[in-house]
Amino acid sequence: MKKIVLTGAAGRLGSYLREPLLRLAQELVSSDIIESIGTLHPNETYVRADLSDLSAMIDLLKGADMVVHFGAIGDEAPFDAILQANIVGAYNIWEAAHQNGVKRVVYASSIHAVGMHKKTDFIGTDVPHRPDTYYGLAKCFAEDLASLYWDKRGLESVCMRILSCAQVSNPRAVGSWLSYDDLIQLVEKSITTQITGFSIVYGVSNNDRATVDNSMASHLGFKPKDNAEQFAEKIYSEEEKLDPYDQGAVCQGGPFASVELGHSGVATMKIANDKKVI
Ligand SMILES: NC(=O)c1ccc[n+]([C@@H]2O[C@H](COP(=O)([O-])OP(=O)(O)OC[C@H]3O[C@@H](n4cnc5c(N)ncnc54)[C@H](O)[C@@H]3O)[C@@H](O)[C@H]2O)c1
Repeated sequence: MKKIVLTGAAGRLGSYLREPLLRLAQELVSSDIIESIGTLHPNETYVRADLSDLSAMIDLLKGADMVVHFGAIGDEAPFDAILQANIVGAYNIWEAAHQNGVKRVVYASSIHAVGMHKKTDFIGTDVPHRPDTYYGLAKCFAEDLASLYWDKRGLESVCMRILSCAQVSNPRAVGSWLSYDDLIQLVEKSITTQITGFSIVYGVSNNDRATVDNSMASHLGFKPKDNAEQFAEKIYSEEEKLDPYDQGAVCQGGPFASVELGHSGVATMKIANDKKVI
């Protein structure tokens, strides 16, 4: 592959993907809205661009074989903010990909597209959308956009519904953890699988207590290796009793399921800032 474009390259997950993506293409174009991402790898360039600017996205995707789309507001936020970065931003990526003849969009979707489903339902990739926030609603929009651009324009997508890609720090994460190594494997499989059409897959490690079912995404060959059970005893011994009538405890979306619309869900979680630095 000649060229891959990564959006959200300055973000926490983007920081783990830059080097692996360079192994899959001759050239990586990393992009984000911030001024600079610091030291670049050989064969990597950086382009500062706003996802809500269609002409900037059309320029960014020129000559790209695939785009790995991780740029977004990564939390619940007021609707206007989500509208620009996550909804208009998604449209701009798919439209720019179409206009440039890009083969596939590999997309960081989220469990929050289906976050109001119960954890005890062990949901598959075919359950109806049931967003828990405006943030989740934007992920639903992007997944439907991916479906539309496949059906009408032949642009492939893999929508990776990531659960919790962060250090395990709470009881929910014992089921929802996606390790960084498994994230990298998932993105690699999403790129190298020959035919994906429009695919949905859950981004979750091989956790004993996983709450989602990936059997309909087996064509991607994703075989996660890590298991959060190694953290279970310590996490459960530290936490207070969970309330079975709290949406945040019983729904797939965790705290996002109980937070007020427009208010941060991430602020209620203990997420370590362990961004990878070169
Ligand atoms: N971390 C997780 O567990 C998790 C779970 C599900 C989905 N996701 C998705 O994965 C992606 C990356 O998540 P993350 O945890 O690395 O978040 P992050 O906030 O660290 O990274 C997102 C990046 O997007 C950039 N961005 C925001 N608005 C932009 C705009 N208008 N134009 C260009 N760039 C913009 C930000 O500057 C940031 O660097 C996001 O799409 C997020 O929704 C993450």
